[in-house]
Amino acid sequence: ATTLRGLAEAQNRYFGTALTDGNLNNSTLTNVAGAQFDMVTPGNEMKWDTTEPSNGGYNFGPGDQIVTWAKSHNDRVRGHNLVWHSQLPGWVSSLPSNQVQGAMEAHITTEATHYKGQLYAWDVVNEPFNEDGSLRQDVFFNAMGTGYIADALRTAHAADPNAKLYLNDYNIEGQNAKSNGMYNLAQSLLAQGVPLNGIGFESHFILGQVPSSMQANMQRFADLGLDVAVTELDDRITLPASSANLQQQAADYAAVVKDCLAVSRCVGVSQWGVGDADSWIPGTFPGQGAATMYDQNYQPKPAYNATVTAL
Ligand code: XIL
Repeated sequence: ATTLRGLAEAQNRYFGTALTDGNLNNSTLTNVAGAQFDMVTPGNEMKWDTTEPSNGGYNFGPGDQIVTWAKSHNDRVRGHNLVWHSQLPGWVSSLPSNQVQGAMEAHITTEATHYKGQLYAWDVVNEPFNEDGSLRQDVFFNAMGTGYIADALRTAHAADPNAKLYLNDYNIEGQNAKSNGMYNLAQSLLAQGVPLNGIGFESHFILGQVPSSMQANMQRFADLGLDVAVTELDDRITLPASSANLQQQAADYAAVVKDCLAVSRCVGVSQWGVGDADSWIPGTFPGQGAATMYDQNYQPKPAYNATVTAL
């Protein structure tokens, strides 16, 4: 049977999904996930608030469950993530600023060492940018300045030299102030010899708003010698979704997949969750949803068929 993973693999790409531990108890979901996707991103299980809820107190059980499931389905895993301002336990934000660097390095070293050799990639720093292309003034920036990003990448590389190291963000899919900020940062990190391997374009789109500059934008990062990946694709609709909406969504998915395939360094596309029932969108953007390729009952939507055709 035709599958997303089979079509992607035939082109040396992958097609991934996010999975949470809760998802693993739903056999309808896992049947679709196992058959269709060949890359797994843990939805929450490798984030700091789960893996180090107290200073030096680590918990890798939830993340390990995802890795075990992925391996048993011949899937690879994108580690997500090591450093992020969100889902960050309160103890980190409360540290005196001269202790933040040590805490960040210890966290990265311990987590990346735990998963050493088991992950295809790490999102080392997640969502570092403001919309205007400046760096977010989060606890890491405030303690260390811009250099926290180079420090995080070097620390991750020392712990797991074979994982591809990514910076990942949203609203950087098109050419704009924010993606210019990411581009300038990537260029400067590479010039300093910092171990950076790729850029993740989250791609949480609004229906009909896939940027027309997405392919050219990914290409300029690829031209720096970086891999690029679509890491968290979804396409949200104001509910209830009409059939015209679902057709537009199909066109949006096809456009994203074609943009990736047109860039030889675009290694793959991951959707954020298997189906509409699993998506984070309704919880975060009230009144919106229906953002994935599978409906509430894991039946393929027009976006699925369009993706198959585009692959
Ligand atoms: C989301 C998860 O899907 C939710 O379950 C959680 O409550 C919040 O985070 N950008 C990211 C992801 O990089 O980690 C986020 O995941 C979605 C936005």
